[in-house]
Amino acid sequence: MKKQEISVAELQQLLNEGTQVQILDIRPQQQRDEWMIAGSIHKDVYEEIIAGNQNALDDVTLSADVPVVTVCGGGRSSLIAADILNQKGYHAYSLQGGMKAWNYAWSTAEIKTLDVTIIQVKRVAKGCLSYIIGSGEQAIVIDAALDPATYTQLAENYGWKIVYIMDTHLHADYISRSLDLAGELGAELLFNKSAETDFPFTGIHDGQIIPFGQSIFEVIFTPGHTAESTSFLVNNQFLFTGDTLFTNGVGRPDLKANESKALLKAEQLYNSIQHIKSFPGETFILPAHTSQSLGFDNTVITSRLFQIVAQVDLLSLSKEDFVKQTLERISPTPPNYEQIALINKTGNHEGITPSDLEAGANRCAVS
Ligand SMILES: [Fe+2]
Repeated sequence: MKKQEISVAELQQLLNEGTQVQILDIRPQQQRDEWMIAGSIHKDVYEEIIAGNQNALDDVTLSADVPVVTVCGGGRSSLIAADILNQKGYHAYSLQGGMKAWNYAWSTAEIKTLDVTIIQVKRVAKGCLSYIIGSGEQAIVIDAALDPATYTQLAENYGWKIVYIMDTHLHADYISRSLDLAGELGAELLFNKSAETDFPFTGIHDGQIIPFGQSIFEVIFTPGHTAESTSFLVNNQFLFTGDTLFTNGVGRPDLKANESKALLKAEQLYNSIQHIKSFPGETFILPAHTSQSLGFDNTVITSRLFQIVAQVDLLSLSKEDFVKQTLERISPTPPNYEQIALINKTGNHEGITPSDLEAGANRCAVS
């Protein structure tokens, strides 16, 4: 029988290699708006496919010479769509597990200087950005968002030993893999000393400077998005801002907070942003998220601080206006965030299927 499915790993490899493939997303528009595979074609035929309409894909323009990958939410109706297309003479495959599985597809992009190599690890669907930063023979990992093997394999490829693992904050939109990674490697897990977790870690303080390889990073407390939000400045040049400052916005200060607490957190965020703004404008800002689904284009998601200051209007407001506007512009709360935040606080995700909780776009930003 003709193989009619393609796994996430296989499609990820094809896209990484730059192989031409037509990705046909058949989900309802509402689901597409939430997240998608970058560069995919969309035809909202989900209902027709389910209803058995064999002509549902008649007016979709596809090339018969390039393979087609059909995508739905969970990989079932896309199988029917692939079957219809194959009967029409196309080479079609259904994406196994659909978008739920694609949540864990990733690509990398790299910045290299004389002293340090920064690998941005991008969960392409959700836009989660984690980092492995190598210098000499040592590396640090920030905001591990994928299976620990992803980072251990990358470190091995580059000949690095991972010595420190840290999260910029207690995440509420995906399950942090930092604790697991630290446990597997026996590496030191660092966290803002005020972080309220149920697991032990090495507490770090504001202004602390920590060497690794031939480089250093400085710990900079940037509360607001969460109380324990921390940024890391590598070699006075690269600032890893977590969900405090994005390339196109700032972190939302409202999660797990009532109205008055959100107000207080928005004020803290303003103060943290002022602190970041005092850094040289040339500083590269490397955030923990981007709000769009990403492609496989080897591009690092980053901007220089002066560019962000020029482009994000919130950053030029007075404290009063910043607080008001930030709170007014907040998007709907991310699904399952309370459950995810609790898992990240306890460090226990035994019996949990991450893909059941982590589906959908990132909603940590205000822009
Ligand atoms: Fe966050």
